[in-house]
Amino acid sequence: MSIVLKNINYTYQINTPFMRKALHNINLYSGKNEILGILGGTGSGKTTLLQVITGLLTPDSGQIEIDEVDISQYRKKALNVFDKIGMVFQVPEEQIFEKKVFSEVAFGLRKKFLSAEEIRCKVEGALASVGLNADYCQRFTYNLSSGEKRRLAIASVLALETEYIFFDEPTAGLDYEGRVLLLDNIKKLNTEKRIGMIIVSHDPLEMFSVCHRCVLLKDGCLVFSGDLTDWMANYEILTEQGMVFPQSQQLVHELNRRGWDMKGGMKNFAEVAAQIIKCYDGRFH
Ligand SMILES: Nc1ncnc2c1ncn2[C@@H]1O[C@H](COP(=O)(O)OP(=O)(O)O)[C@@H](O)[C@H]1O
Ligand SMILES: [Mg+2]
Repeated sequence: MSIVLKNINYTYQINTPFMRKALHNINLYSGKNEILGILGGTGSGKTTLLQVITGLLTPDSGQIEIDEVDISQYRKKALNVFDKIGMVFQVPEEQIFEKKVFSEVAFGLRKKFLSAEEIRCKVEGALASVGLNADYCQRFTYNLSSGEKRRLAIASVLALETEYIFFDEPTAGLDYEGRVLLLDNIKKLNTEKRIGMIIVSHDPLEMFSVCHRCVLLKDGCLVFSGDLTDWMANYEILTEQGMVFPQSQQLVHELNRRGWDMKGGMKNFAEVAAQIIKCYDGRFH
């Protein structure tokens, strides 16, 4: 059970003066219960790649398999595969279309033959998990702030309890509390409900804190794939490719460059601090 991309190419506005090749020969694998991160600068092809995987864009060539079903060729046959996927768009306005918050979250649930009480429970549960209380149910969607809209967009996807969720820059526009809540939620959904996720971001700190593995896109090409230890082992090459590591990783790299021997898999300052104390003790006592 997995997502497999083989030799995917995608070109926008093909055969027009605005033609732009956005993806070059992408090969990618994501295991069923994995949180995979897609990192890359603006315009590197992250959104395009996510939209190709979800079937919103059809690749020029190549093959996409979701749970062993080829979605690139047989769209009709693959329809029930798309029911397994929830997608949070980069711009919340692109996915919110109901007037009231309750209706927005309930929209997908209404197609699942649930009772009114079950729908209410799931709507309120999904809103709570993004920090919006039940009072929001009757609010108008167009009156929400941009951070609230993003939380709503995420809640309406979480409510569906799909097997996979894809997030395009999910923390953009969220305040600190909203970011922490969402990242915790992502980890919880993965460990407790075994939901597979692909998250797109240009922020390596957030990505390394939640993803099992991250890939790097550059100018539409997939140039690196690995877990944090692999990324750290290739620090110099990746930095040359334009990658800016989180400050905690920059510190680890700098200490190692000066002769320390710290492991590369620490995800935050707390883990780095623990390693520093361990190394320091080893060297000076
Ligand atoms: N509709 C479009 N027509 C032409 N080029 C596009 C279109 N949408 C995106 N692009 C171009 O494709 C490239 C990849 O875009 P995108 O996937 O949105 O990048 P990212 O999400 O990494 O910022 C960019 O150079 C972008 O300008
Ligand atoms: Mg994008």
